[in-house]
Amino acid sequence: MILESKIRTIKWEDNVSKVIDQTLLPYEYKYIEIKSIENMYESIKNMIVRGAPAIGIAGAHGVVLGAYECEKEYGNDIIQFKDNLIKKSIWLKTSRPTAVNLMWAIDKQIEIIKKFEGCNIQRLIEELEMNVKSLEEDDIKINKKIGENGAKLVGKSWGILTHCNAGALATVGYGTALGVIRSAYANDKTIKVYANETRPRQQGARLTTWELIEDGIDVTLLTDAMCSYFMKSGYIDMVVVGADRIALNGDTANKIGTYTLAICAKYHNIPFYIAAPKSTIDVKIKNGNEIPIEIRDENEVFKINGKLICREGTKTINPSFDVTPNELISGIILEDGIISGDYEKEIKKLFNM
Ligand code: MRU
Repeated sequence: MILESKIRTIKWEDNVSKVIDQTLLPYEYKYIEIKSIENMYESIKNMIVRGAPAIGIAGAHGVVLGAYECEKEYGNDIIQFKDNLIKKSIWLKTSRPTAVNLMWAIDKQIEIIKKFEGCNIQRLIEELEMNVKSLEEDDIKINKKIGENGAKLVGKSWGILTHCNAGALATVGYGTALGVIRSAYANDKTIKVYANETRPRQQGARLTTWELIEDGIDVTLLTDAMCSYFMKSGYIDMVVVGADRIALNGDTANKIGTYTLAICAKYHNIPFYIAAPKSTIDVKIKNGNEIPIEIRDENEVFKINGKLICREGTKTINPSFDVTPNELISGIILEDGIISGDYEKEIKKLFNM
């Protein structure tokens, strides 16, 4: 069974990208319009749009916006048009480094540009616009499949812990980890969700609780350090989180703090699942050590709501993601099913390698 989400995080409409400005939530629910590839770069970097699948779609939108700009500049010269659009698209891929969905979706657009034959720029732009629509639709369909697959793992009245936001707000509109929770809730209204706050950007507090309350799903907010207390006290039957990049051997990068959760879950014998689309798997990367980890501005740690929370001159480092080793992962829930055990073997099978 499916519980539709009311949230549509990103949509292509009237030749612009419309996104929910996630920096304003939970105080304000507002769409903004992104009208240039430069503006899209900044929106991804500054996390107006965030979450691996959502920034993938944003990247694909950005390429179309770049195409409009190149059309103005290079008019009828298809070679110049293609060269410059590819350059802009490659640049857009650098807006954030960890979530591979961004590179994956932009590469899909680049493939279309490279393969296009003929000199009708308008026709090429139409192909890019059509691809945006199909990526958006696929994202929702894929998430629903992930949800259905994952829901089969959930027992009656279970407590499910999640981290960061891997919901409708991190995708086009259903969610990966929260997709599993949505589908499980549709089958059993007595499940309880525990959402980690997710310092420093507080996606759990600001986004996950907002989104689940919006859909009427029972949610309790925890600070990140509470996880072992709640596991030991019997509140948690399962952990399910999203992913930003999965290496060939199943090692998984996700929001900072995920690794700690996986260790705590192992200690307490609680199953720990990753929910993600296949596009999050980077088969070019052998293991987690090769995944680039984004280091963000120190002020995200030093300040809450713009106010310093420590003494001036304090030091910090702000890695935005960590990598959970495959041996701590009970299974990876994908649109094609759930893989576990020898991840490398399973992933190679999935990709016909
Ligand atoms: O820095 P963010 O908010 O983009 O990080 C998002 C996460 O880590 C999510 O858990 C991940 O992208 C999975 S999204 C379905």
